[in-house]
Amino acid sequence: MSRTLKLLPAVLAITVLAALATSCGGGGGEKTATPARTVTAAAGVTPTPAALSGKLEIFSWWTTGGEAAGLKALYDLYPTTCPGTVEIVNATVAGGGGANARQVLTTRMLGNDPPGSFQVHMGHELTDTWVTANYMEPLDTLFTEQGWSSVFPKGVLDIVSYQGKPYSVPVNIHRANVLWYNKAVFTANGLQPPKTFDDFFAAADTLKAKGITPLALGDVDAFASVQLMETVLLGSLGADGYNGLWTGATDWNSAKVTDALNTFKKMLGYVNSDHSSLSWDQANDLVISGKAGMTIMGDWLHADNTAKKFADSGWVPSPGTSGMYDALSDTFGLPKSAPNRDAVVCWLKLVGSKKGQEAFNPLKGSICARIDCDASLFDDYLQSAMTDWKKDAIVPSLAHGAAVKQGWLTNVSDAVTAFVADKNAATLQSRLADACKSATVCK
Ligand code: GAL
Repeated sequence: MSRTLKLLPAVLAITVLAALATSCGGGGGEKTATPARTVTAAAGVTPTPAALSGKLEIFSWWTTGGEAAGLKALYDLYPTTCPGTVEIVNATVAGGGGANARQVLTTRMLGNDPPGSFQVHMGHELTDTWVTANYMEPLDTLFTEQGWSSVFPKGVLDIVSYQGKPYSVPVNIHRANVLWYNKAVFTANGLQPPKTFDDFFAAADTLKAKGITPLALGDVDAFASVQLMETVLLGSLGADGYNGLWTGATDWNSAKVTDALNTFKKMLGYVNSDHSSLSWDQANDLVISGKAGMTIMGDWLHADNTAKKFADSGWVPSPGTSGMYDALSDTFGLPKSAPNRDAVVCWLKLVGSKKGQEAFNPLKGSICARIDCDASLFDDYLQSAMTDWKKDAIVPSLAHGAAVKQGWLTNVSDAVTAFVADKNAATLQSRLADACKSATVCK
């Protein structure tokens, strides 16, 4: 497989990951957690005592149906891996994409009040925000003890590592570039799922003429419009062009970017008028009810459909992105001075385990970060995602902490939020170009 892209290290690593996911046939030698094991705590991870107790606070933004269901499956499994009487405290801050949660987390971390463990995206969000600033414990002993170097693809290990040591445990891989549609609405209107932007706008016009909202959007949390833009950039520029946006190889001031932003603007002409007051899952409700025909969202939406028992959903890669996998991963780490550290370390063992990932991911709408999960436990959408993950060009998500560091993303997010209101594509383009300069990636 040849995917020689000029990429950020993280992007390169995630690309390598795809190659490795293809070449490794699975079958990692996972060791099950063994309480009271004696290990040398060379890298700061201690053995799990025979019986754990006290409270274990897990911090995340997983509050919607499929998100909460996946998290609960892990909580339910905790006592089977971690014997004792630990009481899990489910500390959630609602808000898709996690911006609200990250604000609360930052206050707590800076105030030396960390939760036991917290959800954090693999890549820049983890490394640039917390690892380089020395807030996290390295997990090399745990990874060695659990045999994880042979069950996570090398690319994943590289991305969660800093200076050769892993700092968080990846629980999943999500795909951001999926167009979901209501099959009954499409059939009733003689529509085929759109592959190109031209297909998309033709279908959108048909739906609009029937009084159906073509594209449901819920961007009360800004990530939804940022993510919509990232899928349009990917569909317009292709994988290499998109990746170049994060390395300086693609010029933000180029005509191709202008075209992409005009396509994004045109798309916004087909969304529901109340988008800025809806969450991503409330936007999905419009598709489920047939008031809207399509939405473009990450595959956590598949979990939302499952939780809401909506089975009449179809999916295709978002326009222009066939053969491309816009990826992100949720991970958990060990903050320095985490309360009830032994219980946290055991949580991390569960998060990285085969049984943990096989319980969590079918409910969460994601595929395992591990390579050895049993595919038969996953439904048709997730099996198709597994297939695509092995063969597609993997690119890092902008909106979900993989492509750029937090400061850059904040500047992008502010520019997109302003654009969604004023629709001034020239201003958006110049603000995006400035954001790349401020991040010292572009000149
Ligand atoms: C992403 C996260 C997903 C999902 C989504 C919507 O950032 O990685 O797991 O929760 O936000 O909230």
